[in-house]
Amino acid sequence: MMSRILIEGGTPLAGAVDVHGAKNAVLPILAATVLSEGVHVIHNCPKLKDVSITVEMLRYLGAKVTREDDTLIVDTRGHLGNHIPEKLMRELRSSIVFMGAILARNKRAKISAPGGCELGPRPIDLHIKALRELGASIRESHGYIICNGSQMRGANIHLSFPSVGATENIMLAACLTEGRTVIENVAKEPEILDLQNFLNRMGAKISGAGSSQITIDGVKELYAAEYTVMPDRIVAATYLCGAAASGGRVEIRKVVPEHLSATLSVLRESGCEISSGEDWVSLCAPERLQAVREITTMPYPGFPTDAQSLFLAMLAVADGTSIIKETIFESRFKPAEELVRMGADITVDGRIAIVQGVKKLSGATVSAKDLRGGAALVIAGLCAEGVTEVENPCYIDRGYAHLVEAFEQLGAKIKRVEY
Ligand code: EPZ
Repeated sequence: MMSRILIEGGTPLAGAVDVHGAKNAVLPILAATVLSEGVHVIHNCPKLKDVSITVEMLRYLGAKVTREDDTLIVDTRGHLGNHIPEKLMRELRSSIVFMGAILARNKRAKISAPGGCELGPRPIDLHIKALRELGASIRESHGYIICNGSQMRGANIHLSFPSVGATENIMLAACLTEGRTVIENVAKEPEILDLQNFLNRMGAKISGAGSSQITIDGVKELYAAEYTVMPDRIVAATYLCGAAASGGRVEIRKVVPEHLSATLSVLRESGCEISSGEDWVSLCAPERLQAVREITTMPYPGFPTDAQSLFLAMLAVADGTSIIKETIFESRFKPAEELVRMGADITVDGRIAIVQGVKKLSGATVSAKDLRGGAALVIAGLCAEGVTEVENPCYIDRGYAHLVEAFEQLGAKIKRVEY
């Protein structure tokens, strides 16, 4: 069955909505369940395509996984395999963190290169280099990556780039590796702290997540744990950008406001009034958004690359010219050409997009080409004149459990049609 998302633009969003658990925290935490025998209980796991694929990988390895609403029960007792088939590995980028997890548990792993949204090359050289520095022997043959971790020992590792996935892979591999591992120049994303909290709940000895250095003292054994995953800061930003673009007034709940500080600061600069409490943020949009002089995506706590497409769409109707620089991925302006079909005035030159705000976008049939780009097209549809049809919403389903329902709850004229 094919489906499309239909949006009749022009209604300012209003009301309140809850934010679900963070995809990019759930995925490595699910991989981490492999590290111990037992029954793990993971709460606030959203019903996402990427989560279902990760559950499939766990089941392929031999784990038993059941879902009760937003709770996943993962039983990793008994023998778990070392191998994940290419078909599954290629389904998503974060599959690569199973390499570190399986290595730690079984001391050997056979996986293939991961897949993921097309945002430019998705190399794994930093992962491989770091695991070799931990003493793993890794060779590639016939498209597979074959690892032997029987000689792994704690090591001092310096990441040349604060890669989120590489940081997670090393944490997973090192927590059952004898000796002390110190990783310098790690990613500081909140999802890394969530993974550290879960692993320590399992009995690991990890500290430093959120800073630029993480220290891991290997332990002999880990145990099953119960945990509640952090809220998804990019889903939160998506709802806020939808409200800003449509001239609305919303409150988003079950969030950690400090995770949103870079995006909130840009929303304020565009003229939105923002207030926040312990676990909520409210936004009141101006009559018309102001352009933002410059947005440059950076590793956390800088402006998140995953929110870049959302602001590309939102600023397409702002008053003035905004410059957006994408420093993390090589090709992450795919929604620009679709937004231009809706009347946006966006010029892309390599890693820079120049957004000349227009008064109005007009509804059109547009096509999602990646997860956040798809969400950006929905945001554009919310403020366009007429009806926008977004094709390939399957990309959106990778990271949003109920984007259509959430915007509908906020008053948007939006629906999903199967055909
Ligand atoms: C994670 O991807 C997220 N995915 C991405 O979110 C997010 O955009 C990214 O971090 C940056 O914040 C998950 O957590 C599942 P990286 P990851 O390793 O780990 C280069 C979304 O929309 N690099 O920090 O793949 C890489 O090519 C997704 O939810 C190497 O060169 O990101 C990229 O240019 C999209 N060699 C940059 O580093 C490596 O070995 C950042 O990659 C690894 C990465």
